[in-house]
Amino acid sequence: MKNIFANLLFALFVNIAFAEEEASPKDRLIVETLTRLERFDISGNEKWKGAVERYARSLRGKEGYFELVDQFSVKAEAPALIQFVKRDPSAADAAKAVQLLFRLGHEQSITNALATGPKGKADAIAKLVGFIQTPEAKKLLEEYRVTDKPASTIAGAAPALLATPEDIALLAKRKGDPVSGKAVFQKLCFACHKAGDVGIDFGPGLSEIGSKLPKTELYLAIVKPNAGISFDYEGWVVETRQNGVLAGIVSESDEKLTVRMIGGVSQKVNNSDVLKREKMKLSLMPEGLHLAMSEEELVDLVEFLAGLKKK
Ligand code: HEC
Repeated sequence: MKNIFANLLFALFVNIAFAEEEASPKDRLIVETLTRLERFDISGNEKWKGAVERYARSLRGKEGYFELVDQFSVKAEAPALIQFVKRDPSAADAAKAVQLLFRLGHEQSITNALATGPKGKADAIAKLVGFIQTPEAKKLLEEYRVTDKPASTIAGAAPALLATPEDIALLAKRKGDPVSGKAVFQKLCFACHKAGDVGIDFGPGLSEIGSKLPKTELYLAIVKPNAGISFDYEGWVVETRQNGVLAGIVSESDEKLTVRMIGGVSQKVNNSDVLKREKMKLSLMPEGLHLAMSEEELVDLVEFLAGLKKK
């Protein structure tokens, strides 16, 4: 009996000791070497796995963290990722973290967060899941919506319900507050667009969009994203042998295909690993984003965008 206790205590001690073990310079060296050799499958080597896990832990909150977790599929980081998302779903990297949880096969932790979180946070997390257009993500969202009340608007005000060109012409005559518009952008658009110093480079850059599109077309781009999809930004669903189903913008070079996914994570796939690829009918930009804001917020947002001009 005593022995069992001693063993248990020892196991506990080892666990704690390991959990807190810091990444050493040697860990870093191992990770750098593996990266250079493109040896990203480390499942068969405990020493490498340990080094990568410790190094990933030491990188939390720092540059390169998401890329490392992504490349080596560091499953041990899943709990930290979901904590990160739950703490602040509107954080700049929350979309990336959600994307990674799917890639690591930890959707369940997202389902749990949706089921147990406060409504506002759960909605914000659901919005991030909505950016991922894989079948798994769609299924998860459908299940969430069954138990969900209609989405709340940011400010709680009536959403801007506009459909006709007349509505848009009227709105385009109004003047908004670009500072408040920037805040709206940071909530709903930053996950896919870069505008000046904010946002992630996934969809087209918007830093000079005010020189390209007049207000009426800015409204149209937001309200009806499927009306005219930019050629370079068409969405593809790629079924692979090794990496499951990926959805995003595809670029090709030599024997590799790169799928750039929402949130800014890229996945390289060998052509030989591709089972099927299909062009999406809809824009990667979700429809109905304007329904998540009040009319005033929409006007402010367009004012902000219209002010982003060529210098
Ligand atoms: C999930 C990713 C995503 C989100 C979120 C998103 N967009 Fe987009 N957006 C895209 C993609 C991809 C395109 C290019 C494909 C297309 O034209 O439909 C695009 C195109 C655009 C364009 C046209 C750009 C051009 O050069 O013609 C504008 C304007 C735009 N988005 C504004 C916004 C605004 C404003 C928001 C926030 C309310 C937003 N987008 C949210 C992905 C997104």
